[in-house]
Amino acid sequence: MTDAGSTEVFVAPEPAEALARLGMPMEEAMRTQRAVRKLHLTPVSHDVLLPLLELSLKAPSSSNSQDWSYLVVEDPGQKAKLAKLWRRLYKVVNPIAVRQAKGDPKELRGMAPGQWQAEHFEELPVFVIPCYKRNLKHRPTGRPQISVASFYGSVFPPVQNLLLGCRAVGLGASLQTLPIWWVPSVRKILGLPRSVNPVCIIPIGWAKGNYGPTTRRPIGEVVHLDRYGNQPFLET
Ligand SMILES: Cc1cc2nc3c(=O)[nH]c(=O)nc-3n(C[C@H](O)[C@H](O)[C@H](O)COP(=O)(O)O)c2cc1C
Repeated sequence: MTDAGSTEVFVAPEPAEALARLGMPMEEAMRTQRAVRKLHLTPVSHDVLLPLLELSLKAPSSSNSQDWSYLVVEDPGQKAKLAKLWRRLYKVVNPIAVRQAKGDPKELRGMAPGQWQAEHFEELPVFVIPCYKRNLKHRPTGRPQISVASFYGSVFPPVQNLLLGCRAVGLGASLQTLPIWWVPSVRKILGLPRSVNPVCIIPIGWAKGNYGPTTRRPIGEVVHLDRYGNQPFLET
């Protein structure tokens, strides 16, 4: 398959060839998985996407409730509605981000893939929107003293599995929350019942942007031994 309506020549790998890449060493996948926002506009075959979704759901969920659903959006009309919703917010937040960059070329370069994606949102091949069902044990809201981690914590493990799977096969993907900022509209577009909560959106396509290595804080800065503040692994 090639990108429709584009002068670029990109040929997506055959599904079997792409899935064979899942043998990538785990360390390499974990070190290089990153938010890849520049994507080829070529469709992503269900023969690649569905095995990745299935593998991603090997993740844990609270009490093994598995109350998840994946909304896979490919229909141009549906994608256009999601793009319209995202642009309502993007129009406001992008100029703020540009102002905050104060002309710094590195900052502005870093923003370019996100801007490209916002401008091409409805053309992106596929969106996966992980949702989780509210149930008696696991609610997205509660008293502030009581952790709600079991609710969102049942969504993000499969999401990370999916991101790693995409990385291995050569797909670009990123976890995003801003495009689905106005939940009532997302419910309406996707026909979600009130009990089903959209948690994030993952635009997916064959990667055009680069993978990692990513830059992250050093481990010694993050690890506290026995009590917060005791950081014996800090580099001196
Ligand atoms: C909870 C969460 C929400 C995020 N929301 C967005 C988003 O709305 N838009 C976006 O472009 N990226 C979003 N990201 C992606 C982060 O910006 C990205 O993972 C981070 O900057 C690290 O980038 P890297 O993995 O390319 O190094 C989100 C990530 C997380 C974990």
